[in-house]
Amino acid sequence: MDNRTWKARVFAATSLDGFIARKNNDILWLTQPKPNPAHTRPSSPKKTLTFEQHISEVDFIIMGRETFQVCLSLPEWPYPPSKNLLVLSTTLQFLPTLSNIPASSSPTPTSTPIPQPEYCGVVASLDETETILAKKGAKMVYVDGGKTVQGFLTRGWVDELVLTHAPILLGAGNGDENGDGGGGRPLFSHRGLRVPEDVRFTLVGVDVIEDGMVSSYYRVLRP
Ligand SMILES: NC(=O)c1ccc[n+]([C@@H]2O[C@H](COP(=O)([O-])OP(=O)(O)OC[C@H]3O[C@@H](n4cnc5c(N)ncnc54)[C@H](OP(=O)(O)O)[C@@H]3O)[C@@H](O)[C@H]2O)c1
Repeated sequence: MDNRTWKARVFAATSLDGFIARKNNDILWLTQPKPNPAHTRPSSPKKTLTFEQHISEVDFIIMGRETFQVCLSLPEWPYPPSKNLLVLSTTLQFLPTLSNIPASSSPTPTSTPIPQPEYCGVVASLDETETILAKKGAKMVYVDGGKTVQGFLTRGWVDELVLTHAPILLGAGNGDENGDGGGGRPLFSHRGLRVPEDVRFTLVGVDVIEDGMVSSYYRVLRP
């Protein structure tokens, strides 16, 4: 029985082969794609959800520790600082100050200030996430990061998906100069998600957006 009082939405972009980032966390192929004059301009009127429309409805962002570390490496916190933030992690005790972020293969953190919304903290499990979202009266949760999205999907907690497909194959061998980081980090597990049955969606809208990318907006079809 699903007692959630909140909805959750995934707003993510993938390469044609389904990756949300290279293994080394590079997402420049997405955020700064090589210009291609053959791409048409975004279609209008839009039927999908723009990021601005999406984020304006969100009261909680939940992201995996990997995504959090990438956000910290950016010059600015990429989301409105007023949004409540949960970071899923079994290795962080609390949102780190910049000096005690665990060393990892992620880009080196810079001095991005951690946002100061009404609520922000670390959660160590999906059960803890559920408790906090219920206690805080969450309404629309933005689920960010591949492993995190996979966890929400296996619990049946994803209500909407806004997926952007970038016109690129990342393949297996296009990593950094050491040949490391080829392939990438999938939005959905390539081994298949542990869902008890097929999860079906209604296509709400689809649009060509910037740089030849296609954005599709789906709403889950509950039995
Ligand atoms: N293209 C896009 O739209 C898009 C969107 C978001 C992110 N990204 C990119 O995707 C990459 C990160 O994605 P990712 O799949 O590698 O990782 P992720 O979901 O961001 O983070 C994974 C980590 O989160 C924690 N975690 C996740 N589920 C958990 C659970 N159920 N219980 C406890 N802890 C849990 C674990 O941290 P611990 O190891 O600390 O336990 C795990 O190692 C980054 O490069 C980011 O920039 C791209």
